[in-house]
Amino acid sequence: MRHSIAMTVNGRRTVLDVEPHRTLLEVLRDRLDLLGTREGCGVGECGACTVLLNGRAVVSCLVLAVSADGAEITTIEGLAKEGRLDPIRTGAIQCGFCTPGMIMAAKGASVLEGNLCRCTGYAKIHEAIAQSASPPAGRETTSA
Ligand code: FES
Ligand code: FES
Repeated sequence: MRHSIAMTVNGRRTVLDVEPHRTLLEVLRDRLDLLGTREGCGVGECGACTVLLNGRAVVSCLVLAVSADGAEITTIEGLAKEGRLDPIRTGAIQCGFCTPGMIMAAKGASVLEGNLCRCTGYAKIHEAIAQSASPPAGRETTSA
């Protein structure tokens, strides 16, 4: 049996029918085509699927879509301005798989301890987030 839910996703009201066992991650990727939210572990361990739910960073693989009924969701796509994200300059990306989740966790003011990166190392990521939080005068911000 499906349930009708209404969410505001990246500023757009979205109404859809979902099965009760579907996760927010599945709905974002498979139903709304928001592929920037990554599926890594699928069990709440890696942080790749992090989105903002009512302004708070959550791992969307552990959130049932029906529980997000009425919520405001922001994904990495929702941070783009005119279709573009700000560049990241500190070498904080290699394959980039973890990057959307890292950015969303930083936006949600959560610590990154739940976000795993297999390739970059965390020093550069923390450097990029610090630059984004307080960009030097005359320079662009370094992350979304
Ligand atoms: S895919 Fe959700 S925490 Fe890993
Ligand atoms: S940049 Fe590859 S997993 Fe983080």
